[in-house]
Amino acid sequence: MSFNIAIDGPAGAGKSTIAKRAARELGFVYVDTGAMYRAIALGLFRSGIDVEDEGKLSEALTQIEVSIRYENGEQQVYLNEENVSGLIRTEEVSRMASVSSAKPLVRNKLTDLQRGLARRENVLMDGRDIGTVILPQAQLKIYLTASVKTRAGRRYKEYLERGEHCSLEEIEKDIEARDFNDMHRETAPLRQAEDAVLVDSSDLSVDEVVAQIVSLARERM
Ligand code: DC
Repeated sequence: MSFNIAIDGPAGAGKSTIAKRAARELGFVYVDTGAMYRAIALGLFRSGIDVEDEGKLSEALTQIEVSIRYENGEQQVYLNEENVSGLIRTEEVSRMASVSSAKPLVRNKLTDLQRGLARRENVLMDGRDIGTVILPQAQLKIYLTASVKTRAGRRYKEYLERGEHCSLEEIEKDIEARDFNDMHRETAPLRQAEDAVLVDSSDLSVDEVVAQIVSLARERM
């Protein structure tokens, strides 16, 4: 039987950096489910439909197939036959993903794909509803969070490093709004599973968090 690790938590808690590294140390396949939601969002964005129109959304989704492949150990996400990994990290796609990922029609489309991957391989999967909905039987669940201040500060630094202008206050507001949306949507809201280990990375380095997750996984394997 495969060993599954679920990591959930709000945006900006460092999930993907930490999950990628912990997966590598454990020899697990890293599955970034946010990238799948982003690929669907890109497809919907390109279709130009109003996602609030359920009929149109349902029809548009029949034209959207998402799959993932691994190239040099890195997850690549495909929209139909196009590798869109480099196109899904824009603000536009983030905004569309935040809206479209709340739609049950969108979530249903990815459930089987995510569960299928976890059945076949030892995976470390990160997202918002992995421990609660997708893999309730995961052998290890982590709820990774950090204070709004810490998350905003990290994002601010990233923007500055890329030479982009931004306001710390606006980033904080944006993070609070996304948390609220993720936690209060009707379908698969972000919440800590009862049996998840809470890890607050506000005062921890990436190395320390990775070490904690790897050690918890080894204890249970
Ligand atoms: O983690 P991320 O920022 O790449 O996620 C993109 C969007 O998809 C974000 O709005 C949250 C949503 N998401 C989700 O609803 N469920 C998941 N399992 C993963 C991401």
